[in-house]
Amino acid sequence: MHRRQIVFSLTVSLLAACGTSRSPTPTLEPTPARPTRTPPPPATAVPTISPVILQVGKPLSEHRGRYFAASGVCTPCHQNLEDDSGADVSIDAFWRSSMMANSARDPFWQASVRYEIISNPEAAASIEDTCATCHMPMARYTESVGGEQAVVFQSGLTDPDHALHDLAMDGVSCTLCHQVLEEGLGFQTSYNGGFEVDIEIAAGERVVYGPYSVEEPYLVAMQEASGYIPAQGLHLGDSELCGTCHTFFVGSSFPLQTTYFEWFYSDFRGVQTCQDCHMPEAVGGVRIASSSEFPRSPFAEHVLVGGNAYMLELLKTFVDELGLTASAEQFEVTQQRTVEQLQNQTVELEIEEMRLSGGRLTADIRIKNLAGHKFPSGFPSRRAWIRFVIGDSSGQIVFESGGVDALGRIIHNNGDDDPTLFEPHYLAIVQPEQVQIYESVMADANGEITTELMGAVEYLKDNRIMPAGQDKFSDVESIQPRGKAVGDEDFQGGVDEIQYAIDLRQEQGPFTVTIEVLYQSIGHPWTEALRGLGSDEVERFLRLYDAVPNIPVVVARESIEIGE
Ligand code: HEC
Ligand code: HEC
Ligand code: HEC
Ligand code: HEC
Ligand code: HEC
Repeated sequence: MHRRQIVFSLTVSLLAACGTSRSPTPTLEPTPARPTRTPPPPATAVPTISPVILQVGKPLSEHRGRYFAASGVCTPCHQNLEDDSGADVSIDAFWRSSMMANSARDPFWQASVRYEIISNPEAAASIEDTCATCHMPMARYTESVGGEQAVVFQSGLTDPDHALHDLAMDGVSCTLCHQVLEEGLGFQTSYNGGFEVDIEIAAGERVVYGPYSVEEPYLVAMQEASGYIPAQGLHLGDSELCGTCHTFFVGSSFPLQTTYFEWFYSDFRGVQTCQDCHMPEAVGGVRIASSSEFPRSPFAEHVLVGGNAYMLELLKTFVDELGLTASAEQFEVTQQRTVEQLQNQTVELEIEEMRLSGGRLTADIRIKNLAGHKFPSGFPSRRAWIRFVIGDSSGQIVFESGGVDALGRIIHNNGDDDPTLFEPHYLAIVQPEQVQIYESVMADANGEITTELMGAVEYLKDNRIMPAGQDKFSDVESIQPRGKAVGDEDFQGGVDEIQYAIDLRQEQGPFTVTIEVLYQSIGHPWTEALRGLGSDEVERFLRLYDAVPNIPVVVARESIEIGE
């Protein structure tokens, strides 16, 4: 990772002079040209690849539509792949257990679509079409070419009898990403899932883009087997490809998800793309198809993990009930990768100073965000917080801020007790009733807190830790912090600093102070808002949710002993 970073920055500074003028908001700031990937290596002798033991799931659909094919058309050749370290890097196994492959079957998503419809019945048709845009992109795009809106429920795409059912349930799949055209990417029209696919090319001759230039015998082999011809398209390696769906404005102005913007206005632009972190490079070369003669490098692993360890646990537990194609073992591996990413690549927790004097404990803590966007980013149900615990000489807890109960509620978080309240951003914490929670809190047109996506018009709070390099006072309004973080001088690009000042005069030292950064992908208010709505999708999700404890991931932990 380190070596690669240097290579990229060098490439970028060399190319900076010829930067394009792509930019996500009206600004004159030029985008540096993308770091180009190394050219394909010359043909070399084929290393003998030892047989890989795969934990296969259910068969993938082999449905072929007019513009898209389901993943089962592609995976027969793009599996059983191994890198130079001997690790299995099969595209099939990584992808099918990713959240993106499960974006349509995700029971939280389905419940959430239903919740939006119940909250706004007269807009049902447009809500279903909107929600399908990124979560069922192949089916929805096909419908839109035919001038139709996508229907999710009631004989819609979730119904096995629907002609586009298989494409819908395949989620964000191979022929979606690999057919997106370069035109328009990075421009306003490409946000909200506004990617374009060539609709002129006939079925059987359609083109899928990739990083390499593929030679003649392979072009024909792949075309004959799948109806798709591989072609080099370096835009596949650009963050703008991901930005088309990872930028979601509701009602054209409320910034519901701005992961791509956060990245664009950080130090990571021009240095590390989304792919660099989310599709890490395999060790050495990989034969990219089972029939390939020579290995290619760099090979982007389709791991595509973010922070959603909880949903992967839920999917793993209910593989059969939800009709998922990945096996429980594959979900397990993807979930472990998610936890590893959260624990090793997400934050750095530093205790800058800790003193105990006159029975008063003071601790200055610094949290550094290592991700290429806010932490947390993405869907607004994500939250991270600090748990600060002091144990006395006998091991008794004498102070705790940010503990969590068996239902996944943050103890003393106003918002988990009462949905009309939220915990403000703190500069300092002096009592257990105060908890530092990094989250966004949405409000509706009446200024009331809401978890209804389509009804949100503003954030009352957004103190998610900004990525390195983001200027909180820049004029890019959609990613500016909201609430008390704005006035916190220690809340800056890449970091937040906070002080804990605790009165321990009644307690017996020496003390053990433990500090943790915890993360949950679904905060309590998001499930509670669904209770009592009484539709099938909502009831099912709540039943599965209640069966899988919402245990936060410990992202970082430090422990110190201190006496006077
Ligand atoms: C008959 C086996 C076969 C099938 C089926 C197949 N491919 Fe391929 N694919 C290949 C081969 C062979 C190559 C080229 C290998 C090489 O040059 O190293 C390739 C290359 C690729 C590349 C790299 C292209 C580039 O220019 O970098 C992509 C992307 C790709 N395939 C995607 C797909 C998708 C999507 C499908 C399903 C629609 C699919 N493949 C189906 C065999 C297949
Ligand atoms: C512009 C693309 C786009 C559209 C349109 C879209 N989503 Fe999403 N959605 C995403 C992305 C990207 C994520 C993942 C972000 C993350 O992991 O933090 C996501 C995540 C979610 C999640 C969280 C899933 C989980 O398992 O935690 C829910 C729920 C959800 N979306 C509901 C909806 C609903 C309801 C609609 C329609 C109103 C909708 N989405 C429309 C892109 C979109
Ligand atoms: C989220 C979008 C996305 C999805 C879904 C996706 N890919 Fe890719 N794929 C990429 C990107 C991005 C690259 C790397 C491009 C680069 O770095 O230049 C890539 C690279 C490849 C390559 C070249 C070898 C490598 O991994 O670097 C092949 C072959 C390939 N994909 C096949 C597939 C197949 C088969 C599927 C479905 C099982 C699939 N992809 C699903 C985005 C995607
Ligand atoms: C067609 C739309 C689309 C494109 C293009 C797309 N994504 Fe996504 N992505 C989604 C949706 C939808 C989800 C949420 C799925 C869910 O949770 O149900 C998601 C989720 C994710 C997650 C969260 C996974 C987790 O475990 O929390 C990551 C990471 C991610 N995408 C990375 C990428 C990267 C990197 C690219 C570009 C190579 C990309 N995405 C391109 C739609 C897209
Ligand atoms: C420097 C590495 C890095 C880069 C660059 C990067 N990410 Fe991430 N991403 C991470 C890490 C680490 C996490 C896990 C922490 C988190 O959840 O924020 C993550 C999490 C995510 C999530 C889940 C968010 C959540 O909190 O649930 C999504 C979605 C995502 N990334 C998409 C993207 C997209 C899209 C891009 C490019 C615009 C991108 N990432 C660029 C490192 C990176």
